[in-house]
Amino acid sequence: MLRETDVAAIIADWQDHHAKLFGRHALQLSHRLAESPLFSDEALARLIETAPRDAYHVNYSQKTPGNPPRRREGEIKDLPGRAVLDAVRDGNIWINLTAPDRLDPSYGKLVDDIYAEFEAHVPGLKTYKRRLTLLISSPGVSVKYHSDVPGQTLWQVRGAKKLYVYPAGAPFISQPALERLILGELRETDMPFEPWYDDFATVYDLTPGTMLHWPLNGPHRVVNENVLNVSFTTEHWTDELRRSYAVNYANGIIRKVTGTTAPLSQTTEGLGYYGKLALAGAVKFSPLNPQKQKRYEVDFRVAPGQPDSIRDIPSYAFVK
Ligand SMILES: [Fe+2]
Repeated sequence: MLRETDVAAIIADWQDHHAKLFGRHALQLSHRLAESPLFSDEALARLIETAPRDAYHVNYSQKTPGNPPRRREGEIKDLPGRAVLDAVRDGNIWINLTAPDRLDPSYGKLVDDIYAEFEAHVPGLKTYKRRLTLLISSPGVSVKYHSDVPGQTLWQVRGAKKLYVYPAGAPFISQPALERLILGELRETDMPFEPWYDDFATVYDLTPGTMLHWPLNGPHRVVNENVLNVSFTTEHWTDELRRSYAVNYANGIIRKVTGTTAPLSQTTEGLGYYGKLALAGAVKFSPLNPQKQKRYEVDFRVAPGQPDSIRDIPSYAFVK
């Protein structure tokens, strides 16, 4: 018999053994958020209309088979939210709303509810610095091969996509590439990719009401089916993820200073680790900090009715 707490749960098919898999292996589960009013056209249109420049990205990349070319950065200007949604449905663009919780606290509550549920299920799990990013993307759009720095989960709300997940280690992500990603020197989407990597990917079909959580820094890419997609990602940190971040950050500094190409210890225990933790802390909070603000070159505007729903504009930069 279902208890009241089961009915209210966000994850519909959690089983006890999933606690042993969480964060260690890719875990595809069912969720109950596909029907949430937080993802209705009305709610999305309102978020698009109210998002300030530092709370969204709109991207475009030419359609090619396989891993797509470099993405372009755009802007949304003087359009009702509904017209933007139509432009996404008819075009070849994707919109990331990076701070919906700043525009409506319901999204902040949602991310809190999600992680409260994971923490209730997974013994010892304690998450922080949690974020939710909404993704609204055109039929057939692809997101290039990349890794993310924090823990990642992708939730499908509308439409369908394939998510290719690759092993979280060399050669799919080399130790120096991971270090440069963590130092902020490698854009997430500039990771080396070879077509044969696909032979080692696990491909997940994400349909409304399904999600995937995969191991830290696991490289992945996304291919939308031929339908408008509404999805969101959640990111989180734990002490364990932060230790991994600190050791790779310190290794990146050591590699820069010494020029070594040798493997460096990634252990997060013992004296060596504490030395690296001190190094990472000293650099991160000193003027040596190599992590820079990101600069974006905006060169198109969302333009309903135009091919791919974009129009070129004279490029300008913004820094975030
Ligand atoms: Fe990602």
